[in-house]
Amino acid sequence: MVVTSPLKGQSHSHSFTKFLPYALYALLPIALFRLYFHPFPFPQSTTDQLSHNSRIILTTSSSSSSSPPLSFSKEEEIANETPCDYANGGWVHDKMGPLYNGTTCGTIKDGQNCISHGRPDLGYLYWRWQPSQCKLPRFDPNTFFHLLSNKHIAFVGDSMARNQLESLLCMLATASYPNLVYKDGVDTKFRRWHFASYNITISVYWSPFLVRGVEKSKTGPDHNELFVDTVDARWGADLDHIDMIVLSTGHWFLHPAVYYEGGSILGCHYCPGLNHTEIGFYGVMRKAIKTALETIIERKGANGNGIDVLLTTFSPSHFEGEWDQAGACPKTKPYKEGEKMLEGMDADMRAIEVEEMETAKVNAKQFGGLRLEMLDVTKLSLMRPDGHPGPYMYPFPFANEVQERVQNDCVHWCLPGPIDTWNQILLEVIRRWSIQSRREE
Ligand SMILES: *[C@@H]1O[C@H](CO)[C@@H](O)[C@H](O)[C@H]1NC(C)=O
Ligand SMILES: *[C@@H]1O[C@H](CO)[C@@H](O)[C@H](O)[C@H]1NC(C)=O
Ligand SMILES: *[C@@H]1O[C@H](CO)[C@@H](O)[C@H](O)[C@H]1NC(C)=O
Repeated sequence: MVVTSPLKGQSHSHSFTKFLPYALYALLPIALFRLYFHPFPFPQSTTDQLSHNSRIILTTSSSSSSSPPLSFSKEEEIANETPCDYANGGWVHDKMGPLYNGTTCGTIKDGQNCISHGRPDLGYLYWRWQPSQCKLPRFDPNTFFHLLSNKHIAFVGDSMARNQLESLLCMLATASYPNLVYKDGVDTKFRRWHFASYNITISVYWSPFLVRGVEKSKTGPDHNELFVDTVDARWGADLDHIDMIVLSTGHWFLHPAVYYEGGSILGCHYCPGLNHTEIGFYGVMRKAIKTALETIIERKGANGNGIDVLLTTFSPSHFEGEWDQAGACPKTKPYKEGEKMLEGMDADMRAIEVEEMETAKVNAKQFGGLRLEMLDVTKLSLMRPDGHPGPYMYPFPFANEVQERVQNDCVHWCLPGPIDTWNQILLEVIRRWSIQSRREE
């Protein structure tokens, strides 16, 4: 097979080698991806309930807002030790279990509310992530409120961004209930909550490519169209009012797409009917992340306002069998340390994100007030094949009789579930930043 590199002159010489697997992924059944990566194919009753309830339920305790997040000696300890590598470690049994359940929080998307959908095994809830060199503290909502008061935090990206946001809201709701203050029509692609007692705004922006994209539709093109040199206007327009941005992207780049750059066609991925060069998706995803990070740095650096930027790394899926048969992701326990290696597409996607973040950190140094960090969750997520909804993306899928064919979601994460750990790490990054900046004052 002759592959013409469309990325000639690109600074990342190794990206060419990353091309090779594209042919493999082009062979995966495209219908499957349509199913799993379509953002909101299900009824949104939970959201509707929230909009009714949320205005009445308010935090009752204002004293919690004044509780100090950490003692001085603990701060010293954190500031002096080398930053913990949260990315590597193992899952260990934990009797404590999750902070919340499917009834304590109105924001869990139905398809991820596994307990309420009748998932019978609950062992997957009793594990905590143990990094190799340090301890990851349990999530403390009041620390979050204390550190982020008067701030606007935006989750921007695909359905993994939404999954992570909903986990965060559920954990925060155990201490103070969020008011849903904005919702985009019947959809839940764009939502915003406000924690009145702390003046914290948390929002979610649907932006699966981070850059401008036209999603395939019944009336439009039957593939996605991506403009890799322009950020998605929806979140781009709000950037001036965002203090912390959490980016998440990846899975949508596997879809068939035509790519544009500088007004001309760059190439495509899986577009057999069209006369464009197949270029895979790795190089394009790299460009999209680069565009997003560069835009954030230039805009927020130039106006001197600063911003905190986190990039959540690729979240592996765990399909073992046919997606429409029982047992597509049947495991009920995490992998043990060393049992599952990070490799193939999961490793490649993560590597691109890590490299682009490193480049962005260097670029950001010319400005003050910009803090950038990875949320490197790929490995810890890879080790949780038991954490997906599987057939419980639908309520009681086996209620009538054992069905031969049932859809499985082995991509998103049950709430509560392993994805709560992502936000534990998020909070630790924020805590470290806060301590460092106070010491620099
Ligand atoms: C969920 O949590 C709430 C509050 O802690 C508790 O009252 C309730 O019994 C729990 N529900 C289930 C099903 O465990
Ligand atoms: C509330 O937070 C927003 C940022 O989300 C900030 O612009 C505003 O000044 C804050 N309001 C008060 C009263 O501090
Ligand atoms: C496809 O593109 C090539 C190179 O640009 C061109 O020579 C050829 O005529 C095109 N074929 C069709 C069917 O458009």
